[in-house]
Amino acid sequence: MNDIDPYKPGKPIEEVKRERGLKDVIKLASNENPMQPSKRVIEAIVEAAKDINRYPDGGCFYLRKALSKHLSVKESNLIFGNGSDELILLALHAFVDPGDEVVVADPTFLIYHIASMVKGAKLRTVPLKNYKYNMDGMLKAITDRTKVVFIANPDNPTGSYVTKEEMGSFIDEVPPDVLVFIDEAYYEFARGGDYPETINLIKRKDRNIIIARTFSKVYSLAGLRVGYGIASEDIALVLNKVREPFNVNSLAQVAALAALNDKEYMEKSVALVNKEKEKFYELFTSLSLKYVPSRTNFVLVDTERDSVKISEYLLSRGIIVREMSAWRLKGFVRVTIGTPEENQKFFKVFTEAVKDTAKN
Ligand SMILES: Cc1ncc(COP(=O)(O)O)c(C=O)c1O
Repeated sequence: MNDIDPYKPGKPIEEVKRERGLKDVIKLASNENPMQPSKRVIEAIVEAAKDINRYPDGGCFYLRKALSKHLSVKESNLIFGNGSDELILLALHAFVDPGDEVVVADPTFLIYHIASMVKGAKLRTVPLKNYKYNMDGMLKAITDRTKVVFIANPDNPTGSYVTKEEMGSFIDEVPPDVLVFIDEAYYEFARGGDYPETINLIKRKDRNIIIARTFSKVYSLAGLRVGYGIASEDIALVLNKVREPFNVNSLAQVAALAALNDKEYMEKSVALVNKEKEKFYELFTSLSLKYVPSRTNFVLVDTERDSVKISEYLLSRGIIVREMSAWRLKGFVRVTIGTPEENQKFFKVFTEAVKDTAKN
């Protein structure tokens, strides 16, 4: 365990306020939705709060019913988790023994890496190509010992995505005994065009596939921790066996149900992100900085400067972004799209930071 670095989340707002003596702090570091959750969500939580003396429904009965209808899959194709993070752990628990291999991209969402190491798995990492998953490379990295392949689609921290065609060829070629974990945490932001609609893949009898999604991002429930997996009945059953019986708390269940029923809120969140994202692109272009076009609610930008200095400059003025050294992306920061007001503040301070910091 000594060689495992714990996951370092974005700094909490309160911590920065305390440490820096600042009154106004904005967090653009953890790819959260900057909007408060839907009113319907708050009402559902308040209503359900009086029942928290009871254990939650371990099977997520109502949420399961609603989601199965929403996705047109069977209830038995669904598995719920304490955030979609937990599904990553469950998949590794169920399918990986110490010494088995797991294929991941590099860089990508760090939890795949950390959780695989905790499980004693051997990691085979495939470098991104031009900030994108190299799907041929991922295929080539699979050996007889490979049990799981993780695909973040879209990817975090780049925001890039695997196209329908690339995913189709990968799934056709992947060995049938390997579990393909398709992480679609940003699905609602990404869908459309040549982004793959993967749900029908779970019907393939000759492939092992799980698709993970979350209520943390577009639905604004990051603090409650609820995500879900869509898989064949067999895979869902196996994952159900290894989960803790009350892994999704009762407030998370009612909140997720209410969020799912508020389509208007979800569409508003996506529209806000798409509109604001254009402004980030414009700013980076005006500063002659390269960024990765993103299908998510964040953008990865190459500051071409010392990114530790840039993020420190931002932090000293109350803006938390993600500095990317931990991903070995030197000079890069990842910034989450906030409210229009937060973004305006970021644009002003980031411009100053770039102008005040020497180019590499
Ligand atoms: C690619 C990816 N997968 C999973 C997650 C975890 O989401 P959750 O809050 O559902 O655990 C994140 C969160 O940032 C993510 O970026």
